Amino acid sequence: MMPAEKIVRSFRVEVEGGVALCLLDVQGEPVNTLSPQVGAELEDLLAALAKDPAVEGVVIASGKKEGFIAGAKIDVIRSARSAAEAEALSRSGQRQFDALERFPKPVVAAIHGACLGGGLELALACRWRVVSDDRKTQLGLPEVQLGLIPGAGGTQRLPRLVGIAAALDLILTGKGLKARKAQKLGLADEVVPAPILLEVARRRARELATGQLRRPQPGGVKQLQRGGLGALQKLALEDNPLGRELLFREARRKVLKKSGGHYPALEKALEAVKHGLDKGMEAGLEREAKLFGELAVSEVSKRLVDIFFATTALKKDTGVDDPAVKARRVETVGVLGGGLMGSGIAFVTVGAGLAVRVREKDDAAAARALASVRGLLDEKVKRRSMTPIERGATMRLLTASTGWAGFERVDLVIEAVFEDLALKQEMVRAFEQVNPRGIFASNTSSIPIAKIAEASTRPERVLGMHYFSPVQKMPLLEVIVTPLTAPDVTATAVAVGKKQGKTVIVVNDGPGFYTSRILTPYMNEAAEILIEGASVEDLDGALTAFGMPVGPITLLDEVGVDVGAKVAKILHAAFGDRMTPPAALEKLTADGRLGRKSKKGFYTYGGKKKEVDVTVYDLLPGGRQRKRVSRDEIAERVTLQLVNEAIRCLGEGILRSARDGDVGAIFGLGFPPFLGGPFRYADAVGPKTLLERLERWHDKFGDRFEPAPLLVEVARDGRRFYPDARPV
Ligand code: NAI
Repeated sequence: MMPAEKIVRSFRVEVEGGVALCLLDVQGEPVNTLSPQVGAELEDLLAALAKDPAVEGVVIASGKKEGFIAGAKIDVIRSARSAAEAEALSRSGQRQFDALERFPKPVVAAIHGACLGGGLELALACRWRVVSDDRKTQLGLPEVQLGLIPGAGGTQRLPRLVGIAAALDLILTGKGLKARKAQKLGLADEVVPAPILLEVARRRARELATGQLRRPQPGGVKQLQRGGLGALQKLALEDNPLGRELLFREARRKVLKKSGGHYPALEKALEAVKHGLDKGMEAGLEREAKLFGELAVSEVSKRLVDIFFATTALKKDTGVDDPAVKARRVETVGVLGGGLMGSGIAFVTVGAGLAVRVREKDDAAAARALASVRGLLDEKVKRRSMTPIERGATMRLLTASTGWAGFERVDLVIEAVFEDLALKQEMVRAFEQVNPRGIFASNTSSIPIAKIAEASTRPERVLGMHYFSPVQKMPLLEVIVTPLTAPDVTATAVAVGKKQGKTVIVVNDGPGFYTSRILTPYMNEAAEILIEGASVEDLDGALTAFGMPVGPITLLDEVGVDVGAKVAKILHAAFGDRMTPPAALEKLTADGRLGRKSKKGFYTYGGKKKEVDVTVYDLLPGGRQRKRVSRDEIAERVTLQLVNEAIRCLGEGILRSARDGDVGAIFGLGFPPFLGGPFRYADAVGPKTLLERLERWHDKFGDRFEPAPLLVEVARDGRRFYPDARPV
């Protein structure tokens, strides 16, 4: 018999009024994760509770301050040495949740905070789900983001509970749902305020036990009684084999379009769901485990997990080596220039709960800056991720002015005025006049920070905080330090960036820092190939097939042909011939073809469909008669430029680590995540092979393909960029 209160390593159990409240609190972990160990303990616990006559119902909740269950412990999955081993892990998880589902006494999940992956699969096996309406509460199956599929029954139970279309949407995107949305889908049975979550859950367990509340066992028939007529009709369509076939065909088409075949987990997720619906739950579970096993040992999944680990490590990284260095307290942030970037920066900063003072050049610009932040907050309210009251409170954190009043109080100022060295230096001087202790950070995209710091009497307080556009969406922040930047200043910028929700890498100062520097030769090479006579379609097609989110020519149109040319010029001046931008592109800027912003670029704008504007070829060598350059050649030449430059950055100490280089390229530039970043990619191709490829192009095109000295060294020594890289 269970004692009234007992600690089974990971569970604290409190029995009261016939209900056993089982609080999961995995020891030594900040958040709950599931492992075979925890699963086995759950089995033992259930076995004991089954026999306990004092227990009529069960509630599973979290014993942690934060979160229900964040998912399966990824290290365990990673340690599987074969597909069979990973499949066995999945089978054991499935068995444990089967036992939970078949448990003779009703089990209620009380969900507060993150309920993701294995956590949601556990909840799906419960009879009833009560969910807190807290902002942090989130339900989802993010496995595909790690190149996996749910492996503990998720691909089977979710479609049976919420219908095929809704389940596929969740499984294929990996997105998380807030409580209300989850309730709308039938994933949450009820949503309650967090303080009464456990009380309600206990009550439901009792009501289910006494029969006051009825619910068929989950995993059985669909819940047709819920959701009104619309849902009924949808489910009826899903029940019809022809309708179902259509639904899956459409989903497969979308998946292939989105993933370009680079993310096998998406197709396998579809296969698992479909198999289970065609052949029944048992067969579905078997297929789910088999596919999970195959994916868990796949290269793509390993790369995606690498990135996950890298970003997790960066979350804990203070940005400086010395653990004694502490970030300074930051309560108020100044933003100089409230244009596109400045208003985005102000938005993420007030979002972090910090007071922000924006300085603009005149009243109209100041009003525009306030309006753009307000507009971004309005969008949040519209999407229901913020209440109107919260919007009001957040807006009150923001003020704007045209003078320096108020700047004497800011702890940190982020400068985002025009890209002009003299202007930026003027900002440094003026700021130091009014504020002798604050930190000055520049969001310049190309001017070396040391140059800006030359205007400062306290260069130890000057550094770069390079955001990406649109600031509210792009996850990366590149913090740039000079040899004079003080460590606590670096740590402060990193801490603020994290508060703003960014993944932060710290790089050393140099022309183009890291991200702009590796992008420039990539863009130059694309332009060279264009000038050799290739078509815009082949160029963009080659790189999107490689896995980039957009091709280089589209990117040039989006960023602005003039902006691209400006950065290219700066880097050319810094690095010499190997970064010579193709001169022919100047004709485009002279013609007013600046890309999207001038509604005239490589593509047409304003029409229904985006098409290549063939008149652009009249300005390029070869005219409208384009030459066929193989897409493989295009992808190889263009990406080699980026990878080689990234290796130079590591060799020169611009990057602290290959890890930072991979995170920066993926989150800043959209380098294909399934390849793991330029350094993981270099290791997978093999440094020797990479070197041979570069040498081949070097023979043909000269300097710009000169291999990075570090690559030559690594290839010569038979090393890799990551110590854990597997031999190829
Ligand atoms: P923007 O032209 O939208 O904004 C610049 C703002 O600075 C304008 O609103 C202008 O009124 C204001 N300003 C000019 N002189 C001022 C002064 N003396 N005092 C106060 N405000 C003044 O330009 P954007 O795109 O926001 O760029 C700003 C900085 O961010 C530039 O250094 C740019 O290189 C950099 N950057 C831009 C990125 C982008 O994608 N647009 C990406 C990363 C960095």
